[in-house]
Amino acid sequence: MNPKSLAEKLIATRALETEQYAALIDGRDEIRELLQNEAVRLRTQIYGKAVFIRGLIEISSFCKNDCLYCGIRRSNKNCERYRLTPQQILDCAEEGYRLGFRTFVLQGGEDGYFTDERTGWLIQKIKAAHPDCAVTLSLGERGYESYKKLKEAGADRYLLRHETAEPAHYKMLHPPDMSYENRMECLQSLRELGYQVGCGFMVGSPYQTSAFLARDLKFIESFRPDMCGIGPFIPHRDTPFAGFPAGEAELCCFLLSVIRIIHPPVLLPATTALGTIHPRGRELGLEAGANVVMPNLSPVDVRKKYELYDNKICTGEESAQCVGCLDARVRSVGYEIVSDRGDIRKESV
Ligand code: 5AD
Ligand code: FES
Repeated sequence: MNPKSLAEKLIATRALETEQYAALIDGRDEIRELLQNEAVRLRTQIYGKAVFIRGLIEISSFCKNDCLYCGIRRSNKNCERYRLTPQQILDCAEEGYRLGFRTFVLQGGEDGYFTDERTGWLIQKIKAAHPDCAVTLSLGERGYESYKKLKEAGADRYLLRHETAEPAHYKMLHPPDMSYENRMECLQSLRELGYQVGCGFMVGSPYQTSAFLARDLKFIESFRPDMCGIGPFIPHRDTPFAGFPAGEAELCCFLLSVIRIIHPPVLLPATTALGTIHPRGRELGLEAGANVVMPNLSPVDVRKKYELYDNKICTGEESAQCVGCLDARVRSVGYEIVSDRGDIRKESV
């Protein structure tokens, strides 16, 4: 089938064979607009002009893992490690609440300090102070019992990117002590425990091919995540992948459109990484079908230290400045930031 017929099949059935996804990606130049229009139509039908905001609180730059792409990998001796105090984290949430956030994302490296007890206590505190807010965790791989305790403490959602749905590719991006199987098991556990679950991957990561991306799309088609975070890979100077090129905004936006069509209600952020490789990256993401932005609420003095990749934006700005800036950017493309938990709307379209 030619790209045009594949695009029409995707729109009609919301699914393709794995090889067809690869052909769709390779032939994207001639179908970009068609898929973008369909993606925007779907997101508007479900979410109108609303863009949801998530307040990202980067609680720790300590990480026991050594992912080859990541700037806070444990082998990076140049990474300045920090850990926010409980009070700092609660203060970030307070300020975020005042700024209109109704979702807080606690994100960090896999840091043993954040035990189930400490993390659970924090979740309870935030939920008690703001019962109208959702708490999302992005704290990497933990065990079933740990995820269970954090859920019982009140966590609503969990973000754990699968990074790649091709096991051979997973091995190329991670050290031998990490596995594709464990990552997938974590995602299954989270789902079983009743979390709203987010997966995702980097676009243009080293060794990625259209065939690998096709597997990511097939995985999204079957897993049907509540959220899906995709952003370009951006090299970090102190990692083994320093010399690899960054992913492309154009391909990232195309994939945002495809993912919206595969699973119309999915919550899809226009990521900070996309805003980093292109001056209008987040706006382009929204125009491709994204409906979420995730500004940083971390204290300004730690922002530079949570550097997963080079030249990350928003590391010098106060939270309020980022909200103002994003508000203007979102308006510039005809959308509107809303103060809302922003849960997934599962009604079918
Ligand atoms: N470029 C882009 N994204 C990255 N991440 C980690 N390192 C990089 C990088 N160099 C992404 C991973 C991780 C998420 C928190 O950030 O996909 O899951
Ligand atoms: Fe942070 Fe624009 S969103 S400065």
